[in-house]
Amino acid sequence: MRKVNKINIPSLEKARLRNKESLTYIYSHSIDDELKSKFEGKKFFIRTYGCQANVRDEEVMAGILSSIGMERTENKSETSVAILNTCAVRENAEDKVYGEIGEFKALKNKNKDLVLCICGCMIEQSHIIDFILSTYPFVDIMFGTHNIQDLAILLKEYIKKEEIIIDVESKVGDIYEELPSKRNSSFKAFVNISYGCNKFCTYCIVPYTRGKERSRKMEDILKECKELVDLNYQEITLLGQNVDSYGNDLNDGSTFAKLLEEVAKLGIPRLRFLTSYPSDFKDEVIDVIRKYPNIMKYLHLPIQSGSDEVLKMMGRRYDSKQYLALVDRIKAKIPEMAFSTDIIVGFPNETYEQFLDTIKVSEIVGYTSAFTFIYSPRKGTPAARLKDNVTYEEKVKRFKELVKSLEVSFDEKAKEMVGKTYECLVEGPSKKNSDILAGYTENMKTVLFKGDTCLIGKIVKVKILESHLYSLVGEVIYE
Ligand code: 5AD
Ligand code: SF4
Repeated sequence: MRKVNKINIPSLEKARLRNKESLTYIYSHSIDDELKSKFEGKKFFIRTYGCQANVRDEEVMAGILSSIGMERTENKSETSVAILNTCAVRENAEDKVYGEIGEFKALKNKNKDLVLCICGCMIEQSHIIDFILSTYPFVDIMFGTHNIQDLAILLKEYIKKEEIIIDVESKVGDIYEELPSKRNSSFKAFVNISYGCNKFCTYCIVPYTRGKERSRKMEDILKECKELVDLNYQEITLLGQNVDSYGNDLNDGSTFAKLLEEVAKLGIPRLRFLTSYPSDFKDEVIDVIRKYPNIMKYLHLPIQSGSDEVLKMMGRRYDSKQYLALVDRIKAKIPEMAFSTDIIVGFPNETYEQFLDTIKVSEIVGYTSAFTFIYSPRKGTPAARLKDNVTYEEKVKRFKELVKSLEVSFDEKAKEMVGKTYECLVEGPSKKNSDILAGYTENMKTVLFKGDTCLIGKIVKVKILESHLYSLVGEVIYE
């Protein structure tokens, strides 16, 4: 049994009792020469699970490892540092991670110098750390979402002593600016505007794993976006668990509407944002979206449930009437707006009638796309303590019924697009056929079309010829 060096261990209870300490912005980051000599020319592997916040963390970790001279690989057997960047939002995300950790047992036996790190939201939970320590004793370093910037320091510490390291910082009030970063794409970028979440929806683990809500300063966000515009990026997505509360903690008059407008003015061809919280969404934001053609007319507006009773149990701070009124105000000002959403089926004790309310409300909105989930109890959250009288089989049945009903609306919206021409950002060859390119429209619909690979990363006009449920087929219109 190796020694375990517990630098900091997580506590869900502490994460709930938010500390009132003020925010600290840290603008320096040093590169370690000792590590450079150790790792220069070696390879690293990173697998990210979960949301865009994790993807952005992956880019920072890739930046830190590149700054010590390492190169990325997708081949696990040639890697010196492997990182699994985990997600805790649902149980099935965690199960996939365990499967992949297991694969590393044989690789670690073959390559004794391989350093295996597990980070991200799962590691913010002490019961998971205990489980990993007892089940996968070959894991070398575990660190939390607030310790990303320390990756190089942790590697150095590990090499010195070869003890298992656990570092999950519970002080969550810091914002690190100007960390190295190696973006996954040269034409579309995610930019954090805030970290953490203060909403504490009763089913959700994120406020515990990502900490209290902290906004980046507007000037720092604008600087990052300007750099992306100068590098000829085509699309920026502003990221926050709740973008609408951006600036609430800054006390300098910054709001999401102002930020969105300032970023739009920088001239990025496409601007998006994620995620909106219905009752925090301000009408000024509608006006900004309408005013700037480069702000995509696509809104991801999670409803979670269409039943007022369930919304209350979920701790969501709006009812279906308020949600629909917001959708109506948006449609009145921006008729072409496409809506997408998140829906959870099978919240504890949800009745069939309450479930049907979700279908009803979804039909009224007419979503273009939606992310649907079966409720997954998350240890430490209030909903996980509820007794539940709905069987898993019933939840699966409702889930299928919901998807079927949503697909009617997806199909309708996709059919309306046939014969019309849309701008598409070309992402790359299609997954199934490398002779075909795949891009996506303003409303996030995937379009497949023939075209030269030189179009990748560009915005092209595509006429839609056929509609399928989850993709469209089109042809490039050259002008
Ligand atoms: N079970 C199922 N879905 C969840 N989500 C968050 N927590 C849970 C959970 N415990 C969903 C919500 C959220 C999306 C990112 O994940 O719909 O909006
Ligand atoms: Fe989770 Fe609710 Fe915060 Fe979204 S708003 S991250 S669902 S707690």
